[in-house]
Amino acid sequence: MNRAHTLLFLLYGFFLQCGARKNVLFIIVDDLRPDLGCFRGADFPTHDDPPPHTPHMDALAGSSLLVRRAYVQQAVCSPSRTSFLTGYILLITHFRSAGGNFTTLPQYFRNHGRRSIGIGKIFHQGIKDPLSWSEPDIYPGSSNWDRQNASWQFVPDNLLHANPLIDYKIAQSATKKLGEFATGGKYAHTPFFLAVGFIRPHLPFVSPASFGDLYPLNTLKLPSNNKAPVGMPEVAWFKSNEIRTQYEDIHRSSFTGEINNTIPNNIALDLRRAYYSAVSWVDSQVGVVLDELNRLGLADSTVISLVGDHGWQLGEHGIWGKSTNFELATHAPMILKIPGLTDSGLSTRRIVEFVDLFPTLVEAVGLPKVSICPENSAHVSTCTEGESFMPLVHNTSADWKHVAFSQYQRHQHRTNIMGYSLRTERYRYTEWPEFSYQTFKPDWTKLHGVELYDHTVDPDENHNRADDTAYATLRANLSWRLHAGWRHASPSLHQAGPALVG
Ligand SMILES: *[C@@H]1O[C@H](CO)[C@@H](O)[C@H](O)[C@H]1NC(C)=O
Ligand SMILES: *[C@@H]1O[C@H](CO)[C@@H](O)[C@H](O)[C@H]1NC(C)=O
Ligand SMILES: *[C@@H]1O[C@H](CO)[C@@H](O)[C@H](O)[C@H]1NC(C)=O
Ligand SMILES: *[C@@H]1O[C@H](CO)[C@@H](O)[C@H](O)[C@H]1NC(C)=O
Ligand SMILES: *[C@@H]1O[C@H](CO)[C@@H](O)[C@H](O)[C@H]1NC(C)=O
Repeated sequence: MNRAHTLLFLLYGFFLQCGARKNVLFIIVDDLRPDLGCFRGADFPTHDDPPPHTPHMDALAGSSLLVRRAYVQQAVCSPSRTSFLTGYILLITHFRSAGGNFTTLPQYFRNHGRRSIGIGKIFHQGIKDPLSWSEPDIYPGSSNWDRQNASWQFVPDNLLHANPLIDYKIAQSATKKLGEFATGGKYAHTPFFLAVGFIRPHLPFVSPASFGDLYPLNTLKLPSNNKAPVGMPEVAWFKSNEIRTQYEDIHRSSFTGEINNTIPNNIALDLRRAYYSAVSWVDSQVGVVLDELNRLGLADSTVISLVGDHGWQLGEHGIWGKSTNFELATHAPMILKIPGLTDSGLSTRRIVEFVDLFPTLVEAVGLPKVSICPENSAHVSTCTEGESFMPLVHNTSADWKHVAFSQYQRHQHRTNIMGYSLRTERYRYTEWPEFSYQTFKPDWTKLHGVELYDHTVDPDENHNRADDTAYATLRANLSWRLHAGWRHASPSLHQAGPALVG
């Protein structure tokens, strides 16, 4: 071996060690709340439901870091996806035309030599972003089953061969692509960033009938809290618009979506059953992709990230959908597998924000770090408002951020309002100030509502304590933290305040 060879050999070893040739399999499941066996417990309390049947996601969690308390920055598809795919908190639907020319997560991997491929729903449906992908992204056509007027349906299994469900097609496109990566050819020696976005359990809750059989109707329960929280300001409410206006069966029912008007019990039970069945159906398709990754021998060289894009209220508080600042809408599943580091199965209760995912994946694969955005980032193409949570991979109770920020807009009485919500280890605190779309700033002096929920005594958020004098000092403190914003809470800017625990 001459010196040049030695050097190459050492460099090769260095890259192997740093994981610089690692692939990424990035799975997004639409409208999946963290209601999987692996997430249930103190951080996803449930008194209501049968055990979900999700063997593949649970098995993945068994060799991953399970992030038990991950929060999205906005509980609706498009802005949530935009914020974790760009690393910014944005409110707009199409980030390139309205926000700035930001580098997306897939684009960053593409710019660093990855073959970047998108299959299914990655950005919000209909958004084409050629800069993100090495080749045009693949969106298989949906079947008649997937486009229908009823809010749920079980499709007889024997009809699916001729007319498969869309998630079947997405899983098949993904396994085909993995095959192309494994056999070389045009992709030889090129690591990949493969994003796979499944459609269910998003409405309509459609799945093969055999998945409905996993949940006999008599095992289903109604949510124990189907009323608005005591003391909830009206502005916090969401009228379940999507399910009420887009699906004939719900539209025809007595459900009005008003505060404390509940959906008829038989419909609630059917919907819950169909949601869980759709979750199990997607789990089976996640399993198809993961099994193929293993079979092709790619598992040891592939980092796997699996997330939902936000939570979902299955009738809790009487709401059906996302689009609120409640725990159940902002809390979403996050699982990260890094071969060699998470094999034994880790779990953290530290609070993580979805904007943290971009810098984390970048660090997990050994690409150049993405830095924190400056105060004015309008002209910075690559920066992040999140932090890499690799410290939690190395020590699941490492010192880390203590709060997550979410927001949701309302328009009431001709006034624009923005709900800003802060989740600490113990509390959820939300203010609803008026908001200007000219300055993109809230006016904290014009509040349309304040909410404070104490999760140690009220994990379901049934009692708003904002006006309870026993909580007055705490409320002032939380308000101050909320106004100070994420920058103040950032561990790497060395301003992280003490935990609000105990
Ligand atoms: C956005 O950035 C890309 C490079 O990342 C560049 O090719 C493209 O021209 C830019 N578009 C605009 C509108 O600035
Ligand atoms: C679906 O809903 C639309 C709009 O309400 C209606 O025009 C159409 O007839 C419905 N189709 C079926 C099959 O019910
Ligand atoms: C809704 O129900 C809650 C809990 O029972 C009650 O405190 C609240 O006053 C009700 N709100 C309305 C608008 O009826
Ligand atoms: C993990 O982090 C915690 C909190 O900083 C610390 O007390 C503990 O010693 C760390 N554990 C290890 C194994 O480093
Ligand atoms: C908020 O509470 C923390 C500890 O619980 C304390 O250290 C901090 O000074 C308080 N901040 C304000 C502005 O009250």
